[in-house]
Amino acid sequence: MNQDQLKQLVGEAALAYVQPGTIIGVGTGSTVNCFIRALPQLPFKVTQAVSSSEASTALLRELGIEVLDANAVEKLSVYIDGADEIDHQGFMLKGGGAALTREKITAAMSAQFVCIADESKLVHTMGTFPLPVEVIPMAAAAIIRRFARLGGLATLRLKDGKPLLTDNGGHIVDVRGLGITNPLHLEAEINQWPGVVTVGIFAQQKAQVCLLGTATGVKTLKF
Ligand code: 5RP
Repeated sequence: MNQDQLKQLVGEAALAYVQPGTIIGVGTGSTVNCFIRALPQLPFKVTQAVSSSEASTALLRELGIEVLDANAVEKLSVYIDGADEIDHQGFMLKGGGAALTREKITAAMSAQFVCIADESKLVHTMGTFPLPVEVIPMAAAAIIRRFARLGGLATLRLKDGKPLLTDNGGHIVDVRGLGITNPLHLEAEINQWPGVVTVGIFAQQKAQVCLLGTATGVKTLKF
């Protein structure tokens, strides 16, 4: 099976975590798109969701699912999202799609985080994939210098030659060269730098379950 087929497999496997009559949290990315497109296969209709990006919102609405403002919801039954890397403790590195801030907010509202990923995403130590960090634009250069002092090479993510603008009006810096050996500690440290909106380490908001697409089928990892 190729990577797209594995994404399809785990997207469909995540349907088992959707309970009738509940509001679900929906992440962002190509794996989550497979999950969203599979929702009509359920024997009941999912009517309401909170979404982590404009892109997922558009796809949910195409399927007739109402997308609620997060402020109007107290708790979500489950949050389904992909990851750029996930380790053997359920800690994740996310933000390849620049949606990390809304992803972390939605994950924090949810009783359970179910990560869906193909097996290429499972790692022992995170940090091979460049770490995304959403920043307030005026702080970008200072934050890039702070990462250099930690031994990381941070660059501003560009789109069409200009700094990429997130759904929140922020910029993204991508940091290479950090071996993330203590995700909880590094997340807490970067979080308190002035101008950091969200760091793409999901250690506080780790996954409770990972549905991992492998050549032999879906493996369920519990953390
Ligand atoms: C978006 C994310 C995605 O979950 C992550 O980039 C994985 O994406 P894909 O499913 O396309 O591989 O964090 O901000």
